[in-house]
Amino acid sequence: MRDLIDKLEKERHLERDEYSALIGAASPELYEYLSAKARDIRHRIYGHDVFIRGLIEFTNYCKNDCLYCGIRRSNKNAARYRLTKEEILSCCENGYSLGFRTFVLQGGEDPYYTDDRITDIVSEIKKRYPDCAVTLSIGEKSRESYQRYFDAGADRYLLRHETADALHYSKLHPPELTLENRMRCLRDLRETGYQVGCGFMVGSPYQTAEELAQDMVFIQDFRPDMVGIGPFIPQHDTPFAEMESGTAELTLFMLGLIRLALPNVLLPSTTALGTVDPLGREKGILAGANVVMPNLSPVSVRKKYLLYDNKICTGDEAAECRNCLQSRMKSIGYDIIVGRGDCAPDTIKNIKERSNQNVNL
Ligand code: 5AD
Ligand code: FES
Repeated sequence: MRDLIDKLEKERHLERDEYSALIGAASPELYEYLSAKARDIRHRIYGHDVFIRGLIEFTNYCKNDCLYCGIRRSNKNAARYRLTKEEILSCCENGYSLGFRTFVLQGGEDPYYTDDRITDIVSEIKKRYPDCAVTLSIGEKSRESYQRYFDAGADRYLLRHETADALHYSKLHPPELTLENRMRCLRDLRETGYQVGCGFMVGSPYQTAEELAQDMVFIQDFRPDMVGIGPFIPQHDTPFAEMESGTAELTLFMLGLIRLALPNVLLPSTTALGTVDPLGREKGILAGANVVMPNLSPVSVRKKYLLYDNKICTGDEAAECRNCLQSRMKSIGYDIIVGRGDCAPDTIKNIKERSNQNVNL
Protein backbone atom coordinates (compact mmCIF):
# COMPACT_ATOMS: atom_id res chain seq x y z
CA MET A 1 0.00 0.00 0.00
CA ARG A 2 2.91 2.36 0.57
CA ASP A 3 3.61 2.27 -3.15
CA LEU A 4 0.12 3.66 -3.77
CA ILE A 5 0.82 6.50 -1.38
CA ASP A 6 4.13 7.13 -3.18
CA LYS A 7 2.29 7.10 -6.49
CA LEU A 8 -0.34 9.55 -5.25
CA GLU A 9 2.40 11.83 -3.94
CA LYS A 10 4.22 11.78 -7.26
CA GLU A 11 1.36 11.83 -9.73
CA ARG A 12 -1.39 13.55 -7.71
CA HIS A 13 -3.73 11.02 -9.15
CA LEU A 14 -4.98 7.50 -8.49
CA GLU A 15 -7.61 5.36 -10.10
CA ARG A 16 -10.79 4.60 -8.23
CA ASP A 17 -9.87 1.02 -7.39
CA GLU A 18 -6.49 2.19 -6.13
CA TYR A 19 -8.16 4.63 -3.80
CA SER A 20 -10.56 2.02 -2.49
CA ALA A 21 -7.73 -0.44 -1.87
CA LEU A 22 -5.80 2.23 0.01
CA ILE A 23 -8.77 3.39 2.07
CA GLY A 24 -9.80 -0.19 2.80
CA ALA A 25 -6.30 -0.86 4.10
CA ALA A 26 -6.13 2.20 6.37
CA SER A 27 -4.19 1.36 9.54
CA PRO A 28 -2.16 3.30 12.11
CA GLU A 29 1.08 2.32 10.36
CA LEU A 30 -0.14 3.38 6.94
CA TYR A 31 -1.49 6.60 8.43
CA GLU A 32 1.97 7.42 9.86
CA TYR A 33 3.46 7.00 6.42
CA LEU A 34 0.72 9.03 4.71
CA SER A 35 0.53 11.87 7.21
CA ALA A 36 4.31 12.46 7.20
CA LYS A 37 4.10 13.06 3.45
CA ALA A 38 0.94 15.14 3.69
CA ARG A 39 2.49 17.32 6.40
CA ASP A 40 5.65 17.70 4.42
CA ILE A 41 3.91 18.94 1.30
CA ARG A 42 1.70 21.25 3.35
CA HIS A 43 4.85 22.72 4.97
CA ARG A 44 6.42 23.31 1.57
CA ILE A 45 3.40 25.28 0.35
CA TYR A 46 1.92 26.88 3.45
CA GLY A 47 4.69 26.55 6.04
CA HIS A 48 3.30 26.36 9.56
CA ASP A 49 0.57 28.89 8.82
CA VAL A 50 -3.03 28.18 9.71
CA PHE A 51 -5.76 30.30 8.13
CA ILE A 52 -8.87 31.23 10.07
CA ARG A 53 -12.40 31.80 8.85
CA GLY A 54 -15.02 33.30 11.13
CA LEU A 55 -18.12 31.15 10.96
CA ILE A 56 -21.43 32.95 11.39
CA GLU A 57 -24.34 30.50 11.62
CA PHE A 58 -27.05 33.01 10.79
CA THR A 59 -30.16 30.81 10.45
CA ASN A 60 -31.11 27.27 11.40
CA TYR A 61 -34.37 27.29 9.47
CA CYS A 62 -34.13 24.86 6.58
CA LYS A 63 -36.58 23.80 3.90
CA ASN A 64 -34.65 20.61 3.26
CA ASP A 65 -34.90 17.30 5.03
CA CYS A 66 -31.49 15.65 4.80
CA LEU A 67 -31.68 12.51 6.87
CA TYR A 68 -28.45 13.13 8.80
CA CYS A 69 -28.96 16.76 9.72
CA GLY A 70 -30.29 18.12 13.00
CA ILE A 71 -31.81 21.24 11.44
CA ARG A 72 -33.84 19.31 8.84
CA ARG A 73 -37.36 20.65 8.44
CA SER A 74 -38.96 17.57 10.01
CA ASN A 75 -37.15 18.11 13.28
CA LYS A 76 -39.90 19.69 15.32
CA ASN A 77 -37.64 19.83 18.36
CA ALA A 78 -35.15 22.24 16.82
CA ALA A 79 -35.42 25.71 18.35
CA ARG A 80 -35.31 27.89 15.26
CA TYR A 81 -33.61 31.27 15.04
CA ARG A 82 -32.55 33.87 12.52
CA LEU A 83 -29.96 36.62 12.96
CA THR A 84 -30.85 40.11 11.78
CA LYS A 85 -28.60 42.01 9.43
CA GLU A 86 -27.46 44.10 12.38
CA GLU A 87 -26.61 41.00 14.40
CA ILE A 88 -24.62 39.57 11.50
CA LEU A 89 -22.75 42.85 11.09
CA SER A 90 -21.95 42.93 14.76
CA CYS A 91 -20.47 39.40 14.49
CA CYS A 92 -18.29 40.76 11.68
CA GLU A 93 -17.26 43.76 13.74
CA ASN A 94 -16.25 41.55 16.62
CA GLY A 95 -14.52 39.16 14.22
CA TYR A 96 -12.62 41.90 12.47
CA SER A 97 -11.19 43.12 15.75
CA LEU A 98 -10.14 39.55 16.54
CA GLY A 99 -8.18 39.35 13.28
CA PHE A 100 -10.65 37.58 11.01
CA ARG A 101 -10.44 38.59 7.35
CA THR A 102 -12.85 35.96 6.05
CA PHE A 103 -16.45 35.72 7.15
CA VAL A 104 -18.38 32.58 6.36
CA LEU A 105 -22.12 33.07 6.35
CA GLN A 106 -23.60 29.64 6.85
CA GLY A 107 -27.21 28.68 7.26
CA GLY A 108 -29.96 26.27 6.39
CA GLU A 109 -31.84 26.80 3.13
CA ASP A 110 -34.09 29.45 4.59
CA PRO A 111 -36.52 31.15 2.17
CA TYR A 112 -36.73 34.16 4.50
CA TYR A 113 -33.30 35.16 3.23
CA THR A 114 -34.33 36.08 -0.28
CA ASP A 115 -31.71 37.00 -2.84
CA ASP A 116 -32.40 40.65 -2.05
CA ARG A 117 -31.69 40.10 1.63
CA ILE A 118 -28.54 38.07 0.98
CA THR A 119 -27.12 40.58 -1.50
CA ASP A 120 -27.92 43.42 0.88
CA ILE A 121 -26.02 41.70 3.71
CA VAL A 122 -23.07 40.72 1.52
CA SER A 123 -22.66 44.15 -0.01
CA GLU A 124 -22.82 45.84 3.39
CA ILE A 125 -20.10 43.54 4.77
CA LYS A 126 -17.92 44.20 1.71
CA LYS A 127 -18.51 47.94 2.03
CA ARG A 128 -17.49 47.98 5.67
CA TYR A 129 -14.61 45.50 5.33
CA PRO A 130 -13.23 45.78 1.80
CA ASP A 131 -10.11 43.86 2.82
CA CYS A 132 -12.16 40.83 3.83
CA ALA A 133 -13.43 37.84 1.87
CA VAL A 134 -17.05 36.81 2.21
CA THR A 135 -17.87 33.13 1.89
CA LEU A 136 -21.43 31.92 1.49
CA SER A 137 -22.60 28.49 2.58
CA ILE A 138 -26.34 28.58 2.04
CA GLY A 139 -27.02 25.60 -0.14
CA GLU A 140 -28.47 24.90 -3.55
CA LYS A 141 -29.64 27.94 -5.54
CA SER A 142 -30.20 28.85 -9.14
CA ARG A 143 -27.33 30.04 -11.28
CA GLU A 144 -28.95 33.47 -11.36
CA SER A 145 -28.97 33.66 -7.58
CA TYR A 146 -25.31 32.63 -7.41
CA GLN A 147 -24.54 35.36 -9.94
CA ARG A 148 -26.38 37.97 -7.89
CA TYR A 149 -24.50 37.11 -4.70
CA PHE A 150 -21.23 37.19 -6.63
CA ASP A 151 -22.04 40.58 -8.10
CA ALA A 152 -22.80 41.81 -4.57
CA GLY A 153 -19.23 40.88 -3.62
CA ALA A 154 -19.30 37.29 -2.36
CA ASP A 155 -15.89 35.74 -3.06
CA ARG A 156 -16.25 32.10 -2.11
CA TYR A 157 -18.95 29.45 -1.75
CA LEU A 158 -18.96 26.25 0.25
CA LEU A 159 -21.30 23.50 -0.83
CA ARG A 160 -20.33 20.04 0.30
CA HIS A 161 -21.24 17.44 -2.29
CA GLU A 162 -21.76 15.04 0.72
CA THR A 163 -21.03 11.93 -1.39
CA ALA A 164 -20.09 11.61 -5.05
CA ASP A 165 -22.02 8.36 -5.47
CA ALA A 166 -25.59 8.90 -6.70
CA LEU A 167 -27.03 5.82 -5.01
CA HIS A 168 -25.35 6.68 -1.71
CA TYR A 169 -26.58 10.26 -2.11
CA SER A 170 -30.14 8.98 -2.42
CA LYS A 171 -29.81 7.09 0.87
CA LEU A 172 -28.79 10.24 2.73
CA HIS A 173 -31.34 12.60 1.21
CA PRO A 174 -35.04 12.75 0.40
CA PRO A 175 -35.91 12.11 -3.27
CA GLU A 176 -36.24 15.78 -4.18
CA LEU A 177 -32.53 16.28 -3.52
CA THR A 178 -30.25 14.80 -6.14
CA LEU A 179 -26.54 14.49 -6.71
CA GLU A 180 -27.17 15.77 -10.21
CA ASN A 181 -28.44 19.11 -8.94
CA ARG A 182 -25.66 19.31 -6.38
CA MET A 183 -23.12 18.91 -9.15
CA ARG A 184 -24.97 21.46 -11.29
CA CYS A 185 -24.64 23.92 -8.42
CA LEU A 186 -20.90 23.27 -8.04
CA ARG A 187 -20.36 23.76 -11.75
CA ASP A 188 -22.42 26.98 -11.78
CA LEU A 189 -20.51 28.30 -8.79
CA ARG A 190 -17.19 27.70 -10.46
CA GLU A 191 -18.29 29.21 -13.76
CA THR A 192 -19.64 32.27 -11.95
CA GLY A 193 -16.15 32.92 -10.65
CA TYR A 194 -16.30 31.84 -7.03
CA GLN A 195 -13.53 30.06 -5.20
CA VAL A 196 -15.42 26.87 -4.53
CA GLY A 197 -15.39 24.41 -1.66
CA CYS A 198 -16.92 20.95 -1.77
CA GLY A 199 -16.64 18.14 0.77
CA PHE A 200 -18.18 15.11 2.38
CA MET A 201 -18.84 13.34 5.65
CA VAL A 202 -16.62 10.46 6.68
CA GLY A 203 -18.38 7.41 8.05
CA SER A 204 -21.85 8.47 6.96
CA PRO A 205 -24.46 5.69 6.97
CA TYR A 206 -23.99 3.10 4.21
CA GLN A 207 -20.61 4.51 3.22
CA THR A 208 -17.80 2.09 2.39
CA ALA A 209 -14.28 2.51 1.00
CA GLU A 210 -15.89 2.44 -2.46
CA GLU A 211 -17.89 5.61 -1.88
CA LEU A 212 -14.91 7.36 -0.31
CA ALA A 213 -12.84 6.36 -3.35
CA GLN A 214 -15.47 7.96 -5.53
CA ASP A 215 -15.23 11.15 -3.45
CA MET A 216 -11.47 11.19 -4.04
CA VAL A 217 -11.87 10.71 -7.79
CA PHE A 218 -14.40 13.52 -7.93
CA ILE A 219 -12.15 15.84 -5.92
CA GLN A 220 -9.03 15.16 -7.95
CA ASP A 221 -10.94 15.88 -11.16
CA PHE A 222 -12.99 18.85 -9.99
CA ARG A 223 -10.00 20.45 -8.23
CA PRO A 224 -11.92 22.64 -5.75
CA ASP A 225 -10.18 25.45 -3.88
CA MET A 226 -11.34 24.01 -0.57
CA VAL A 227 -12.47 20.63 0.70
CA GLY A 228 -14.41 20.43 3.97
CA ILE A 229 -14.63 17.00 5.53
CA GLY A 230 -15.60 15.78 8.97
CA PRO A 231 -16.90 12.64 10.60
CA PHE A 232 -20.61 11.93 10.45
CA ILE A 233 -22.07 12.26 13.96
CA PRO A 234 -25.63 11.15 14.69
CA GLN A 235 -28.17 13.70 15.86
CA HIS A 236 -30.77 12.29 18.23
CA ASP A 237 -33.82 13.80 16.47
CA THR A 238 -33.00 12.48 12.99
CA PRO A 239 -33.68 9.15 11.25
CA PHE A 240 -29.97 8.39 11.66
CA ALA A 241 -30.06 8.80 15.45
CA GLU A 242 -28.94 5.22 16.07
CA MET A 243 -26.26 5.11 13.40
CA GLU A 244 -22.59 4.98 14.29
CA SER A 245 -20.30 8.01 14.13
CA GLY A 246 -17.48 8.26 11.68
CA THR A 247 -14.07 7.97 13.29
CA ALA A 248 -11.35 10.55 13.76
CA GLU A 249 -8.85 8.02 12.40
CA LEU A 250 -10.52 7.59 9.03
CA THR A 251 -11.16 11.33 8.77
CA LEU A 252 -7.46 12.00 9.35
CA PHE A 253 -6.54 9.40 6.76
CA MET A 254 -8.83 11.08 4.21
CA LEU A 255 -7.32 14.50 5.02
CA GLY A 256 -3.91 13.08 4.20
CA LEU A 257 -5.10 11.66 0.88
CA ILE A 258 -6.72 14.97 -0.09
CA ARG A 259 -3.53 16.90 0.71
CA LEU A 260 -1.51 14.59 -1.53
CA ALA A 261 -4.04 14.73 -4.37
CA LEU A 262 -4.45 18.53 -4.21
CA PRO A 263 -1.30 19.99 -2.64
CA ASN A 264 -2.52 23.60 -2.65
CA VAL A 265 -6.03 22.99 -1.44
CA LEU A 266 -7.50 24.79 1.55
CA LEU A 267 -8.32 22.05 3.99
CA PRO A 268 -10.17 22.80 7.22
CA SER A 269 -9.69 20.86 10.39
CA THR A 270 -13.35 20.85 11.33
CA THR A 271 -15.47 21.25 14.43
CA ALA A 272 -16.95 17.78 13.82
CA LEU A 273 -13.43 16.34 13.99
CA GLY A 274 -12.93 18.22 17.26
CA THR A 275 -16.19 16.75 18.50
CA VAL A 276 -15.29 13.08 18.04
CA ASP A 277 -11.80 13.61 19.48
CA PRO A 278 -10.89 16.35 21.97
CA LEU A 279 -7.61 16.86 20.09
CA GLY A 280 -9.19 16.28 16.68
CA ARG A 281 -8.51 19.72 15.28
CA GLU A 282 -4.85 19.61 16.28
CA LYS A 283 -4.54 16.16 14.74
CA GLY A 284 -6.25 17.41 11.59
CA ILE A 285 -3.59 20.08 11.17
CA LEU A 286 -0.90 17.44 11.67
CA ALA A 287 -2.62 15.35 8.98
CA GLY A 288 -2.22 18.13 6.41
CA ALA A 289 -5.11 20.52 7.10
CA ASN A 290 -4.38 24.26 7.05
CA VAL A 291 -7.62 26.03 7.98
CA VAL A 292 -9.69 26.34 11.15
CA MET A 293 -13.11 27.91 11.31
CA PRO A 294 -13.78 29.28 14.78
CA ASN A 295 -17.36 30.04 15.65
CA LEU A 296 -18.25 33.75 15.56
CA SER A 297 -21.97 33.28 16.09
CA PRO A 298 -23.50 34.94 19.15
CA VAL A 299 -23.18 32.55 22.11
CA SER A 300 -26.96 32.87 22.64
CA VAL A 301 -27.72 30.93 19.43
CA ARG A 302 -24.86 28.45 19.31
CA LYS A 303 -26.70 25.69 21.09
CA LYS A 304 -29.39 25.88 18.44
CA TYR A 305 -27.21 25.26 15.39
CA LEU A 306 -26.96 21.59 16.18
CA LEU A 307 -26.40 19.64 13.00
CA TYR A 308 -25.15 16.76 15.19
CA ASP A 309 -24.98 15.83 18.88
CA ASN A 310 -22.31 16.96 21.37
CA LYS A 311 -21.02 19.76 19.16
CA ILE A 312 -18.12 21.62 20.76
CA CYS A 313 -17.83 25.40 21.11
CA THR A 314 -21.46 25.96 22.03
CA GLY A 315 -21.09 26.88 25.70
CA ASP A 316 -20.37 30.22 27.39
CA GLU A 317 -16.76 29.24 27.81
CA ALA A 318 -16.45 29.10 24.03
CA ALA A 319 -17.12 32.82 23.51
CA GLU A 320 -13.64 33.24 22.11
CA CYS A 321 -12.87 30.29 19.93
CA ARG A 322 -10.29 32.46 18.21
CA ASN A 323 -8.00 32.54 21.24
CA CYS A 324 -8.70 28.95 22.13
CA LEU A 325 -7.65 27.83 18.67
CA GLN A 326 -4.66 30.14 18.71
CA SER A 327 -3.28 28.38 21.76
CA ARG A 328 -4.22 24.97 20.42
CA MET A 329 -2.31 25.68 17.20
CA LYS A 330 0.66 27.09 19.11
CA SER A 331 0.80 23.93 21.19
CA ILE A 332 1.60 21.92 18.06
CA GLY A 333 3.95 24.49 16.54
CA TYR A 334 1.59 26.26 14.13
CA ASP A 335 0.49 29.91 13.87
CA ILE A 336 -2.82 31.47 13.03
CA ILE A 337 -2.41 34.05 10.28
CA VAL A 338 -4.36 37.29 10.01
CA GLY A 339 -5.37 37.78 6.38
CA ARG A 340 -7.79 36.53 3.75
CA GLY A 341 -5.89 33.27 3.37
CA ASP A 342 -6.49 32.67 -0.31
CA CYS A 343 -5.64 29.38 -1.91
CA ALA A 344 -1.97 29.25 -3.01
CA PRO A 345 -1.60 29.32 -6.80
CA ASP A 346 -0.85 26.04 -8.47
CA THR A 347 2.92 26.25 -8.43
CA ILE A 348 3.69 22.59 -8.31
CA LYS A 349 5.01 21.82 -11.74
CA ASN A 350 4.81 18.07 -11.80
CA ILE A 351 1.05 17.82 -11.81
CA LYS A 352 0.18 15.62 -14.71
CA GLU A 353 -2.10 17.39 -17.16
CA ARG A 354 -5.41 15.64 -17.14
CA SER A 355 -8.51 16.19 -19.14
CA ASN A 356 -11.65 16.92 -17.20
CA GLN A 357 -13.72 14.75 -19.46
CA ASN A 358 -14.43 12.18 -16.82
CA VAL A 359 -15.72 14.64 -14.29
CA ASN A 360 -19.16 13.66 -13.21
CA LEU A 361 -20.72 17.10 -13.67
N1 5AD B 1 -22.72 14.89 11.23
C1 5AD B 1 -21.64 15.46 10.66
N2 5AD B 1 -21.73 16.46 9.75
C2 5AD B 1 -22.96 16.89 9.43
N3 5AD B 1 -23.34 17.83 8.56
C3 5AD B 1 -24.69 17.89 8.60
N4 5AD B 1 -25.17 17.00 9.47
C4 5AD B 1 -24.11 16.34 10.01
C5 5AD B 1 -23.96 15.29 10.94
N5 5AD B 1 -25.01 14.72 11.52
C6 5AD B 1 -22.42 18.53 7.69
C7 5AD B 1 -22.82 18.37 6.23
C8 5AD B 1 -23.11 19.79 5.80
C9 5AD B 1 -22.30 20.60 6.76
C10 5AD B 1 -22.74 22.01 6.93
O1 5AD B 1 -22.41 19.90 7.98
O2 5AD B 1 -21.72 17.83 5.48
O3 5AD B 1 -22.76 20.06 4.46
FE1 FES C 1 -14.24 27.02 20.37
FE2 FES C 1 -12.01 26.11 21.68
S1 FES C 1 -12.31 26.53 19.62
S2 FES C 1 -13.87 26.89 22.49
